[in-house]
Amino acid sequence: MTEDFALKVEGLVTNFYTYEGVVLALAGVDLFLRRGDTMGIVGETGCGKSVTARSILRLVEPPGRIEQGSITFFDRDRETNEIAPIEILDLEEAEMMDIRGNKIAIVFQDPATFPNPVFRIGTQIAEVIMLHQDLGRAALEVKIEELEVNLDKTEGDRRNKIEEKIEHYKSQLDTPPEPDDNDKKAAAWKLAIDMLKLVKMPAPEQVISQYPHELSGGMRQRALIAMALSCNPAILICDEATTALDVTVQAQVLNLLNELKSEIGTSIMIITHDLGVVAETCNWVNVMYAGNTVETAATEEIFETPMHPYTMGLLVAVPKLHETKERLDQIRGSVPNLITPPTGCRFHPRCDFVTEICKNDRPRLRELKPGHWVACHNPQGGS
Ligand SMILES: Nc1ncnc2c1ncn2[C@@H]1O[C@H](COP(=O)(O)OP(=O)(O)OP(=O)(O)O)[C@@H](O)[C@H]1O
Ligand code: SF4
Ligand SMILES: [Mg+2]
Repeated sequence: MTEDFALKVEGLVTNFYTYEGVVLALAGVDLFLRRGDTMGIVGETGCGKSVTARSILRLVEPPGRIEQGSITFFDRDRETNEIAPIEILDLEEAEMMDIRGNKIAIVFQDPATFPNPVFRIGTQIAEVIMLHQDLGRAALEVKIEELEVNLDKTEGDRRNKIEEKIEHYKSQLDTPPEPDDNDKKAAAWKLAIDMLKLVKMPAPEQVISQYPHELSGGMRQRALIAMALSCNPAILICDEATTALDVTVQAQVLNLLNELKSEIGTSIMIITHDLGVVAETCNWVNVMYAGNTVETAATEEIFETPMHPYTMGLLVAVPKLHETKERLDQIRGSVPNLITPPTGCRFHPRCDFVTEICKNDRPRLRELKPGHWVACHNPQGGS
């Protein structure tokens, strides 16, 4: 396949060795993220969305362990545009640190988890900028070139914004080379304000001097995204916690990310329970169930012709505006214990279409229609 991938995960297996037994959390997750896509990862609580995100960044802590599989990050050289595949699982920890934050950033969308409550917002963002970005002339020149490439592909309001940014960086280039430490700090502080403006933070000059607890949940979330984006990552992963903000604020923030995408050229992975958010903001969906990818396709395709019984169940469980009946269509049964998961297809005890083979043989993900992958022995509809 000659598609332009940013990330590809194949057969990812992650276990947790607890006192109660081995939690078989990821049992062969497959996913791919194309450059410029916004992909939604959906599934019930405990299905392995966060463990997948943590595995991609190699942030799984003991008693967890990544056992098998491959995670390929397609690193694009910002100067030559050449793409070099990197196997994340083979990297030394020092190389991994360069990937985290610099190339793949994660935002835990629980605003309570702001990295450090005792430092002002500006200090925290500026620190990330100074840590990950060389504020020297070469870096600025590369940024300008990159924005100019984006400019050619963009029209309207966004084009104006990109032009403004280019002007801003060019004006920085005009300052004397080799800034000393104080100049670097001032430049980082200024960039931090720029980042807050980029995420449409109200009163950024004021917010920069405030502490995390002084901001509303939505503002904190914007600040976290500003921080993640300040290293210009190739991939941004947003892991929405169960206790996240109200859906309207969430949708606003996600829409904002989509708006920013053409400006910053980042591919986005959104982890969510909310299919409404997916429909509104993602162009691709990856459905997970009990540690497996069960279906993946373009958003419209998934919503119009779901083929996996679990996805079909998820979609009918979404409350419809004009319906008063509740919970009738919910998927029966509950998420299995992953220490003793069901054999074969892990969904089989809950599935209306189960046959004998499902109980013994785990279905693999197959492309049943162009661009539509399903892991099921008895796929429905769709075809
Ligand atoms: N540190 C841990 N120790 C033991 N088991 C864990 C640990 N972290 C995750 N797990 C298990 O791995 C499985 C997947 O968890 P994960 O956090 O990825 O779910 P999730 O899909 O993100 O759920 P939610 O939507 O509630 O955030 C669960 O069965 C969970 O209990
Ligand atoms: S493989 Fe069988 S049990 Fe699993 S979802 Fe498909 S039909 Fe249902
Ligand atoms: Mg989670």
